[in-house]
Amino acid sequence: MRKPFVAGNWKMNKNNQEAEELARQLKEKIAAVEGADILICPPFTSLSLISKVIKDTGVFLGAQNMHWEESGAFTGEVSAQMLKSAGCGFVLIGHSERRKYFSESNQVVNKKIKAALKASLSPIVCVGETLEEREAGKEKDIVGCQLEEGLASLGEQDLGEITIAYEPVWAIGTGKTATGLQAEQMHAFIREWLEKKYSSSLSNDLRILYGGSVKASNTKELMGQKNIDGTLVGGASLDASGFAEIVKNSL
Ligand code: 13P
Repeated sequence: MRKPFVAGNWKMNKNNQEAEELARQLKEKIAAVEGADILICPPFTSLSLISKVIKDTGVFLGAQNMHWEESGAFTGEVSAQMLKSAGCGFVLIGHSERRKYFSESNQVVNKKIKAALKASLSPIVCVGETLEEREAGKEKDIVGCQLEEGLASLGEQDLGEITIAYEPVWAIGTGKTATGLQAEQMHAFIREWLEKKYSSSLSNDLRILYGGSVKASNTKELMGQKNIDGTLVGGASLDASGFAEIVKNSL
């Protein structure tokens, strides 16, 4: 049985004061929840602060990105070790906004995953097709290629530390959620891919999250699908009550 996993990606929102306030509200509403893993991914600047706020709760902390090198002359970048020391256990890798605005390729995603694993950070690897690609009937080819290249030369043990998030680009921030069926079809495809490439036990155990306009009102439909194990929530994770409701509807 895969434990439900609800992750909030705060993106580039909340200054330190606002982030602390949101984390405190969340702590009040969700810290006592059992039966789901809960993760929040604030901006880099508030990670250390939030780590203190949520310590002693079961809520996990993650970052939204990282560099693949351990240290050096990479102005403006942050390494896996730095995230670890700020209290992170997870990191989002290959989010579609990174791919789109910062030209992250599958090869870069692969390097970042390896660096995260080396630092004992659990990567949440994001995949998903654009509207154009879906309309051309290429969504499975695209996601298949993102998996093939993004996870290249990773072993079964490595995959044991990874979560995959399917986020169709056309559903992110648009209010247009994939239907339960559309999401389920892709999740089933990803699970089959994992089974073929690795093993049925890995494919059974690995959690696959859905992301793209998730809100409290569509969580139950999504979570009711056989291959959807959780959600990666953007906009709706910025409101403590809304996020708490999503968590509750995921149990
Ligand atoms: P929205 O929930 O705002 O559509 O964002 C989804 C997302 O990109 C989460 O990583």
